[in-house]
Amino acid sequence: MTNLNALTTLPTLTGGKGFLGHAREIERDRLAFISKITRETERISRLRVPSVNAVVINHPDLLHEVMLERARDFEKSHLLRYSLYLLAGEGLFTALFEPWKRHRRMISPAFHPASLGVFADPMVECARRVVGEWEGRSQVDLLRETTRITMAIAGRTLFNTDTLVAADEIGNALTVALEWAANNAPSASAFVHLWIRHLSQSVAERMHAPEGSRLRSVQAKLSGPVILAGQEGKALRKAIDTLDRHVETIVRERRAARTEHEDLLFRVLAARDDDGSLLNDRQIRDEILTLFVAGHETTATALAWCIDLLARNESEYRRVQDEVDSLGHRPTYADLPALGATLRAFKESLRLYPPVYFFSRQACRDTQIDGVAIPRHCAVAISPHALHRRADLWPNPDAFQPDRFTKDQEEQRPRLAWLPFGAGPRVCIGAQFALMEGQLVLAHLLRTYRFEAIADVKPQPSATLRPLGGMPMKITKRSI
Ligand code: HEM
Repeated sequence: MTNLNALTTLPTLTGGKGFLGHAREIERDRLAFISKITRETERISRLRVPSVNAVVINHPDLLHEVMLERARDFEKSHLLRYSLYLLAGEGLFTALFEPWKRHRRMISPAFHPASLGVFADPMVECARRVVGEWEGRSQVDLLRETTRITMAIAGRTLFNTDTLVAADEIGNALTVALEWAANNAPSASAFVHLWIRHLSQSVAERMHAPEGSRLRSVQAKLSGPVILAGQEGKALRKAIDTLDRHVETIVRERRAARTEHEDLLFRVLAARDDDGSLLNDRQIRDEILTLFVAGHETTATALAWCIDLLARNESEYRRVQDEVDSLGHRPTYADLPALGATLRAFKESLRLYPPVYFFSRQACRDTQIDGVAIPRHCAVAISPHALHRRADLWPNPDAFQPDRFTKDQEEQRPRLAWLPFGAGPRVCIGAQFALMEGQLVLAHLLRTYRFEAIADVKPQPSATLRPLGGMPMKITKRSI
């Protein structure tokens, strides 16, 4: 690696004073921090956080470099793993390269676009059932309702169950675990934990400790939080116990039944590696919870924002409404090609309010970005939200303009200017699933009800980018 500039030559994002540096700002007001990235980072800037070097990248070329060209140099970050480890363990979202590679190879066929068609009718059916309960009502909290829909879809497509007795309990436990992750990621205790983990790794490496040794198992234990203090910590422990209990029961019953099912659990249980091996019980638990978590809250948030944006843009609403009405029936898989305006509106709302608004990587060896030497352990922050508000990539960036997603317009933009699902080998495995779910659920909702926004809603960057305090919406039943 010759002729590389030193990390210290990079501009540093303004602010970031004190021990926690920019982590304090991220903790206090994430949206303000993200806006600062949009304003100040054209390509790459340095961040000040405790105990590690850190940069933020905000340009399609550099995203390509980190997420595709040098994907092997950048692992999921220890901070992400720390915050989600008790929930998702070594599932696809949080796993390091090994064992991720094997699991992704095994699970990918389950999400092949050609095999997703069977989920279309169940998706619309779940939306129909929830909407059926709105009879006689003039107002709903749309976020609550879209969450009920996507939760029902997750239950149906993962476990093939309509009446998952445990659904509410699982839903509540997932919320507790996600909130813990959102509140505890950039905290002082997280950074102290990561610092200890970092030290234990250095010692294990310097002593050439073999896999399976005591030092290595201490290090593995430090992937997630070790001490769960206070009310919040106790609530997390209880939530994880609840989730473990339910997943264990569901998997045990399914194995005992030995019947074929049209659902993702069946596909994950049957997934075989090239040598014929299957996933073990712990791995199945981690993957199932990962799919449940990654799959439902993200799509629920995206659906709520999309309807809110449509409700505030009369002409765009009319376009989607006309398209949906011209189907003349409940939407089906075969109708997806005819729902182009619906898909464009959904994609544009994922641009303005990307549910996964911030994620990160960590250099696992000395490497480079944009001709700058990046030392091992350096954290790399990426914000789809900051990227999606760049005026040079998205003229008039705050305006809702679904036509940005016509084929012509998409071809004129750098591919990585739109990043709601990430990119490269770690791209969202459920992206096609989510787009199909978005199109079908939106079509069913707009076909059956008229939506009017009745309050200004602000985004709240929590585990996902949710509307703060929910999304109150006036609804009127349509005669169809
Ligand atoms: C609008 C909805 C969704 C959004 C915005 C979204 C966003 C993302 C993003 C940004 C990543 C990559 C994170 C990174 O690179 O660090 C990701 C990964 C992932 N998503 Fe999604 N997702 C959505 C829906 C889904 C659904 C429906 C599923 C499953 C049913 C799912 C399962 C996953 C999994 C398993 C990963 C990890 C993939 C890997 O590393 O191999 N997601 N998602």
